[in-house]
Amino acid sequence: MYKHLVLGAGLLFASTALAAPVPQTKITSNGGYIVVLKDTVKNFESHIEWARSVHKRNLAKRDLDERTYSGIDFTYTGSNHFNGYAGHFDPDTVEEFRSSGDVDSMEEDQDWTIGTIDVPESEADEEEEEEEEELETRDITEQKNATWGLRSISHRQPGGDNYIYDENAGADTYAYVIDSGIRITHEEFEGRAEQAWTAYGDDHEDKIGHGTHCAATIGGKNYGVTKKTKLIGVKVFDQNSTTTSIIIEGIAWAFDDIISKNRTGKAVLSMSLGGTYSPTMNRILKNAARHGIIPIAAAGNDAQDISKGSPSSAEGVITVGAIDSDWTVYEKSNFGENLSLYAPGVMIESAGHTNDTSIVKKTGTSMACPHVAGLALYAMTVDGITGTDNVKKHLLKNATPDKIYGDLNGSPNLIANNGNSQQE
Ligand SMILES: *[C@@H]1O[C@H](CO)[C@@H](O)[C@H](O)[C@H]1NC(C)=O
Ligand SMILES: *[C@@H]1O[C@H](CO)[C@@H](O)[C@H](O)[C@H]1NC(C)=O
Ligand SMILES: *[C@@H]1O[C@H](CO)[C@@H](O)[C@H](O)[C@H]1NC(C)=O
Ligand SMILES: *[C@@H]1O[C@H](CO)[C@@H](O)[C@H](O)[C@H]1NC(C)=O
Ligand SMILES: *[C@@H]1O[C@H](CO)[C@@H](O)[C@H](O)[C@H]1NC(C)=O
Repeated sequence: MYKHLVLGAGLLFASTALAAPVPQTKITSNGGYIVVLKDTVKNFESHIEWARSVHKRNLAKRDLDERTYSGIDFTYTGSNHFNGYAGHFDPDTVEEFRSSGDVDSMEEDQDWTIGTIDVPESEADEEEEEEEEELETRDITEQKNATWGLRSISHRQPGGDNYIYDENAGADTYAYVIDSGIRITHEEFEGRAEQAWTAYGDDHEDKIGHGTHCAATIGGKNYGVTKKTKLIGVKVFDQNSTTTSIIIEGIAWAFDDIISKNRTGKAVLSMSLGGTYSPTMNRILKNAARHGIIPIAAAGNDAQDISKGSPSSAEGVITVGAIDSDWTVYEKSNFGENLSLYAPGVMIESAGHTNDTSIVKKTGTSMACPHVAGLALYAMTVDGITGTDNVKKHLLKNATPDKIYGDLNGSPNLIANNGNSQQE
């Protein structure tokens, strides 16, 4: 048995399914494991050599099939996070790994599926023209006919008629979008998006539109919160499938990239994804937060406590629930005392992946997460806030209190806000 995860509306629904033979083309954990080594293991290469030899010996002994038990599929290396590896091992090998003094922890790999709730075009209202208009004061700008999401994060009541923001927001910052890829040629991105990493050979294409939609909510020219940021595509989903081990690989890559390029203090990890609890994923994110990288996660769409899933439960992560345009809580949004705050997530318009001008509406906590990712970058550039704890505190302090309708199940009643409409 393995856990099968479905991302709904941009996020996950967990269910349990029997492991079945899976065609080669499908991305599947298929009984894989994630192995984390102790920090005290200094010679990673020699452990890997040992692990490969254990695997080989056990395969030969039992005459097992290499297609089922492929051994180490890839390694996680790096002084920033942890050393370890993911792969497919027979039960004897798994036991030998478990009892090795080098191994800190092991978990079974899991399958993830993204299933966005796309709003049919018939329900989408007419395309709205957007115009920008200067306010008198400094760099504050007013965007007319912005999405209801952008209007909500710059007003203290639902129904505000514009997005009020600082034009320089996001300059010299980086949003690492851990998702299905980004259609970087879309005009929303103005050349600021990059296809930086993929778990799938050289295939960076966003085939489902989830990553493109989220990226444009963070930093698109019309649909984005912070219109100058760079968008870094980290493709962990192909179509709607991936595994825990692949997501962690993408997070580890982004973590290392931020450190090596000296982008700490000007980068966020935006994770519009979720699945059942993964101690390894939570561990790497906690570690990233400690390094000053800001991890932001969707709460998930299972109407359950965020403590049941990852990355929503990871320490140091800013976890975001979803509301609709009346500021009523989205019925499927996950909740809990450790949820950080809410943001717009229902019927959110943003870039589509089918052509460079396509605009589509999607619903889910996946759509709420990038609003807050944008606001974290906004806080860094406009308000000069850095450090994971400081940014989180700033977001909570700026949030609109006590305006969400509906049963929050113990979550804080806070809506993300950029602080530009204190008076309302
Ligand atoms: C995932 O994608 C496959 C193939 O495109 C599709 O058949 C399936 O319904 C999708 N699953 C979800 C949950 O969207
Ligand atoms: C904004 O949208 C409203 C309603 O959709 C419309 O009446 C108005 O003309 C639009 N304004 C601009 C500046 O596009
Ligand atoms: C990294 O950034 C900090 C602050 O922005 C700067 O002081 C430092 O010189 C930079 N280091 C490198 C290697 O670029
Ligand atoms: C919330 O987080 C705290 C600190 O990490 C933890 O002790 C507590 O159990 C969490 N609450 C839930 C409901 O998971
Ligand atoms: C772009 O895609 C949208 C659907 O998302 C479609 O309505 C529109 O006609 C397409 N435009 C072009 C130029 O293909």
